[in-house]
Amino acid sequence: MISSAARSQTNTFTVTTPLYYVNDVPHMGSAYTTIAADVIARFNRLQGNPTLSITGTDEHGQKIQRTAEANGRPPQQHCDEIAEKFVALWQLLNIQYDRFSRTTAPRHESIVKEFFQRVWNKGDIYLGQQQGFYCVACEEFKEERDLLDNHHCPLHPNLEAEWRDEQNYFFRLSKYQTDLETLYREQPDFIQPAIRRNEVLSFVERGLQDFSISRVNLDWGFPVPPDPKHTLYVWFDALLGYVTALLEPEDEPTLDNALKRWWPINLHLIGKDILRFHAVYWPAMLMSADLPLSHQVFGHGFLTKDGQKMSKSLGNVIDPVALTQTYGSDAVRYYFIKEIELGRDGDFSETRFVNILNADLANDLGNLLNRTLGMTRKYCDRQIPSIQLSDIPDNNLLRQKGMALGSEVSVAYSKLAFSQASQMILDIVSAANKYLDSEAPWTRYKNGEQNAVNVILYAVLEVVRLAGYLLAPIVPTLSTKIYQQLGFETADFNALDRVSQQFSYSVHVQWGALPPGQVIQSPQPIFQKLEQPE
Ligand code: MSP
Repeated sequence: MISSAARSQTNTFTVTTPLYYVNDVPHMGSAYTTIAADVIARFNRLQGNPTLSITGTDEHGQKIQRTAEANGRPPQQHCDEIAEKFVALWQLLNIQYDRFSRTTAPRHESIVKEFFQRVWNKGDIYLGQQQGFYCVACEEFKEERDLLDNHHCPLHPNLEAEWRDEQNYFFRLSKYQTDLETLYREQPDFIQPAIRRNEVLSFVERGLQDFSISRVNLDWGFPVPPDPKHTLYVWFDALLGYVTALLEPEDEPTLDNALKRWWPINLHLIGKDILRFHAVYWPAMLMSADLPLSHQVFGHGFLTKDGQKMSKSLGNVIDPVALTQTYGSDAVRYYFIKEIELGRDGDFSETRFVNILNADLANDLGNLLNRTLGMTRKYCDRQIPSIQLSDIPDNNLLRQKGMALGSEVSVAYSKLAFSQASQMILDIVSAANKYLDSEAPWTRYKNGEQNAVNVILYAVLEVVRLAGYLLAPIVPTLSTKIYQQLGFETADFNALDRVSQQFSYSVHVQWGALPPGQVIQSPQPIFQKLEQPE
């Protein structure tokens, strides 16, 4: 969870996705991390916290150089083309990022040089001999015991790790063994979830080895400042992309400028395969440069297809562009957030995708709003029923659940338990459907029980409002439609900075924020039922 330690005193919130390799167009795995990061960034904006959301691309290294060569393009041109695909996908998926950090940006080189110099001055970089198996797809040396029988990497079983024996510059990771152990002990929330923390602890317990931070026979990267025959290791360069991203566009690219407002980063959201870089190497690099550490690293699980990690090299990926074009951004965002507990692996099935969306958004939530607004038109003259909140009795189930919901869901969001947050929201929606059926306001209306009708309709409409508000970080377009149909004309959950001023979190997260007497709009379906794929 994001502990109180993970919050800055100023309440600013900085979150990063990994900087994605541009060896290929984005697949659903990359989109997954970015959607999750967008949800937590939007949740913070909704609460009125100054928020910076960082994403971008990791463009150097052997993998990219080889891909560009194979495609017959100069590497920079290749990177430009693929980086554009990421930008386009984020737009399609309605991702509100503030910075798109590219490691080939000239200002990034200045930051890397300055950082390298600090670590160099500290005496933490030395020349040595590197021998070992290198997985180009991971851009990582592998221990022989971690490889499959034929020296293939378990994450890329169709690729053989390559034997290397070369002179490299090394970073003195071993020097930071005790400091890292202290960090993990004193800040137990630094690595989340617990299973990932345990993985790191046992890796560190085995004793840390220095790691090489330069390569020979590789042109595509920054030269090592004191020895330009060597090229800087892609991961040393890439992690610093987070720092470069903090610069304001008009800033001179210096570390001081980069670190002045948004540092330290609150949350690095990553997949579990790159945990070691973020939870071990990165804090040690920052310690060496005498900089404050990021507050938290959360390693989520893998999207799998038939139980295997979805990956380009295995050819079992889902195309997020096609999926989003077919079903819309809210649908894709909702499915991956609700169906897969962040931290666990999750399998994708299109049939299940369609079923969940139809059940939750089209039927449970969409129909509930639709029919309740229809009744409000007929029985209450197009106005939110004019009741006093105290007219809804204490033992009313919706009131009871509604009063607790806002704070419960907020806690779940803060812990990155998004799946739990959406489940709690859908639970109250389903309770409201049952309540409406059992209270049968249509019969009560016929019997002239207008007060009872008012109470019932208000309670149900208020559930839908609260659900819409609390779902806004996940399905902002749907939430906007809910709010607008309930008569909040200017609501736009895609303009969260404005929304958080107009519809303040502290008020709208509470039960009873729906103004009695507010004129509603005509009911329109908020989510079109999806067809099963053929
Ligand atoms: N370039 C590095 C990150 C550098 S960060 C300073 C990198 N890039 S990546 O494109 O290979 O992976 C980016 C992210 O996508 C990782 O967090 C990885 O876990 C995630 N995913 C890649 N395939 C995935 C799935 N099948 N499922 C979920 N996420 C996965 O690593």
